[in-house]
Amino acid sequence: MKLLRVENLKKYFPVRQGFFVQKIVAYIKAVDDVSFEVERGKTFGLVGESGCGKTTVGKTIIRLFDPTSGKIVLEGKDIANLKPSELKPYRTKLQIVFQDPMSSLNPRMTVGQMLSEPLLFHGIVKTREEANKVIAELLKEVGLKPHHIDRYPHQFSGGQRQRLAIARAISVRPHLIVLDEPTSALDVSVQAQIINLLQRLQEELNAGYIFISHDLPLVRYMSDEVAVMYLGKIVEKAPRDELFDHPLHPYTKALLAAAPVPDPKKKRDRKNLIGGQVPSPINRPSGCFFHPRCKFRMPICEREYPPTFALDSSHEVACYLYR
Ligand SMILES: Nc1ncnc2c1ncn2[C@@H]1O[C@H](COP(=O)(O)OP(=O)(O)OP(=O)(O)O)[C@@H](O)[C@H]1O
Ligand SMILES: [Mg+2]
Repeated sequence: MKLLRVENLKKYFPVRQGFFVQKIVAYIKAVDDVSFEVERGKTFGLVGESGCGKTTVGKTIIRLFDPTSGKIVLEGKDIANLKPSELKPYRTKLQIVFQDPMSSLNPRMTVGQMLSEPLLFHGIVKTREEANKVIAELLKEVGLKPHHIDRYPHQFSGGQRQRLAIARAISVRPHLIVLDEPTSALDVSVQAQIINLLQRLQEELNAGYIFISHDLPLVRYMSDEVAVMYLGKIVEKAPRDELFDHPLHPYTKALLAAAPVPDPKKKRDRKNLIGGQVPSPINRPSGCFFHPRCKFRMPICEREYPPTFALDSSHEVACYLYR
């Protein structure tokens, strides 16, 4: 059974206006008809410019947001429309780690209080003593010390705080973890340690990861499959080497061309660089949303949003060049 199957997922945020009577005047289509799958033990990478909807995909899947429509099939069960009370048994299976651990950790709770909460709430342990034993193990597992249990988040470094956020996420033995730029706030040497930790934990838990990052080489390193998002839609999806070595969508090519080139002797792929900015998700261009920035646009691109063309069973692209 597939760990996660996301089908035609939409998340629209209403834009309200008015002082006494608030009226909905528009929708921000943050996620608009997104479909993909994640298997246990595998990593699904999600990339795209700021504001394209990556975090909203993650938060909607773990049901921090109610989806506007679509299916979120977790181990065979569609959880898209479950009420908060019905979601409780699924909360242990789905976890998220954010970029900034300081804002996701409660500053007034000790590590012990913070980590025992989900363990007690979900009945994984019955007593505080039991919880403390599990927490000591968890802290060791993420590279911290058992005596850290009485400390507060501000007494840790950025990297250590991210280890805490990871400890909290894995405490309930999740099957799927959304990693939303988990290392972007950390310096490079600490990043590498956290990445190693995440890889080791993935093997131990056999967890599926959704890995969101702006660091394309890191996404390539971590992921099995990668999807590129633009204005709420997936424009290309492929196994990671295929996507990075044979990108098809002009937007994917542009993203790769804009990424830093590690080898100074290697030339930058200038012909695929693009200018301009991502249009507003409230007022998206007609046809293909990318056409105003695309050098290869054809008349049809201004009129109709392209369907998804499958080049083979694993490589999909939404672009009329591949019709
Ligand atoms: N709670 C919310 N209410 C209203 N609009 C929101 C909300 N969360 C996100 N948005 C909007 O949805 C769109 C997608 O945002 P999202 O945070 O998912 O992008 P992102 O790809 O994660 O960007 P970044 O790379 O900067 O983290 C943006 O236009 C954003 O302003
Ligand atoms: Mg984000």
